[in-house]
Amino acid sequence: MTPIQFALIIALASLLAWIPFALIGARSRKAGTVTSGQLEVMPVSDITDVGRRKFLLRGVGFASLAFLGQFALASIDFLYPRLRGGFGSKISVGNADDLRAELGNREPKFIPDGRFYLTLYEGDPAEAADIPAYKAANVDVSGFMALYRKCVHLGCSVPYCPPSKWFECPCHGSKYSIHGEYREGPAPRSLDQFRAEVVDGELIVDTATIIAGAPRGTSTTQPQPEGSNCVSV
Ligand code: FES
Repeated sequence: MTPIQFALIIALASLLAWIPFALIGARSRKAGTVTSGQLEVMPVSDITDVGRRKFLLRGVGFASLAFLGQFALASIDFLYPRLRGGFGSKISVGNADDLRAELGNREPKFIPDGRFYLTLYEGDPAEAADIPAYKAANVDVSGFMALYRKCVHLGCSVPYCPPSKWFECPCHGSKYSIHGEYREGPAPRSLDQFRAEVVDGELIVDTATIIAGAPRGTSTTQPQPEGSNCVSV
């Protein structure tokens, strides 16, 4: 759904919600209209009741509008990251050459807006081209891997373990290499990825589409941890 469609739905919902109050108000106005022939003296207590009812109706109406307005603003605020290029859209991560130099120290860089770790692929590009997940993520061409931080087992956030240089999930002990390849635990596959492309020197990662990780058994790099593990399960 586009933001414009969403805004139209909110506006329509606001109008629909207002209809019952408008009908009640119209009915009370109609009931209060009298001709000169019908004019009669009302007791002061009845006049006070009518005034109170109108006041309450208007109060409820304004409160409802205020609530709907706040709901609409909160919803638009919720969608705002998507509008400005956050998770769920294409993200410009930075200058590709600068990122290559930074990642050359073999520490992944976490990109909070995109919820992924960025690493440099260290395997053979020709081998990566034969792996459908890597091909879809453009690993063989860009040389970058954008690894979704969400564990493919049950969805926990997977932290990076500096001693082993693996990603190790604290929930049930799944472990993945620095390139997100499955190594141990109950995870059904390697970490999911996003497509990364270098456009005019900028690295662009498309977080709108999640690419399912390579199958278990994929081992193009780093088969063993490089130090002690952080998770012992
Ligand atoms: S959620 Fe990560 S191992 Fe279960």
